[in-house]
Amino acid sequence: MSGISQPRLIVHGGAWNIPDELDTDHLNGVRRAVEQVYPALEKGMPALDAVEKAVNILEEDPTFDAGRGAFLNERGEIELDAMVMDGATLNFGAVAAVQNILHPVSLARRVMEKTEHHFLVGSGAQLFARRMNIPELGPEELLTERELSFYRKIKNDPTFYTRKPFEAHPMDTVGAVAMDIHGNLAVATSTGGTPRKLSGRVGDTPVVGAGAYADNHSGAVSATGWGESILRVLLSKTACDLFLAHSPGEAARKAIQILQQKARGLGGIIGINRSGEYAFAHNTRKMAFAYPRLSGQIIAQIKV
Ligand code: GLY
Repeated sequence: MSGISQPRLIVHGGAWNIPDELDTDHLNGVRRAVEQVYPALEKGMPALDAVEKAVNILEEDPTFDAGRGAFLNERGEIELDAMVMDGATLNFGAVAAVQNILHPVSLARRVMEKTEHHFLVGSGAQLFARRMNIPELGPEELLTERELSFYRKIKNDPTFYTRKPFEAHPMDTVGAVAMDIHGNLAVATSTGGTPRKLSGRVGDTPVVGAGAYADNHSGAVSATGWGESILRVLLSKTACDLFLAHSPGEAARKAIQILQQKARGLGGIIGINRSGEYAFAHNTRKMAFAYPRLSGQIIAQIKV
């Protein structure tokens, strides 16, 4: 790609039935990520750095199910998944089921850049984090009172099942998509997964084409929602492919239709097509997302 163009950035803070009293926290969280990262992107920050930085901000925010504030699994532990992908090279890094790390997306980026592999899981990913000198925190530093009491409530509830959280409880996977001034695309997605998930369960987030995909020749997309259904239709790659034949809005809506019709899925996507146009759609009641208009004004929305 040649020339300098105005960059793009869009972030999300999960698609689910967000209770009205939590709207403000979600809107503030996604807006803050754009406010803090977009000026650097305008000054020439590469897209990969921008998506990592934006997701780091969301991982630190206890509002969301990523990094601090993540759900607890069946054993009362936090296991985190994340992925980052470079649209210029199709290179990506991913980690799954890592513990005690505030920024799993940064660990995923190290996998991409410092190993000859793409995807590390569990104890191997943990060992790699130590080799990379990524700080490990005590489990209590990621844990919130909100998630501890939610876990205690559902721990022994035989009527609780995975799809239910999307109807009644938080599903706040976070993600960011950027196009830098050179026209390169990148994406990052990070999550704590689903509440009371089985230990070792991995959802869509770190799986290439499912939780994220980026290709300068089509576009870049980050997904959120019920991971098992997103995996079945490789939602992010599906949406990127649809960018080639449809307007960004149509492509995003069609991808969500495919999720709903083929996998009875629930979720949402944000994206940027190769021409730098924003795309978003969801079939959950709400999805929190934010992006800057060309005027510089930041739009933070919770519904399409
Ligand atoms: N979409 C996040 C998950 O299901 O793990």
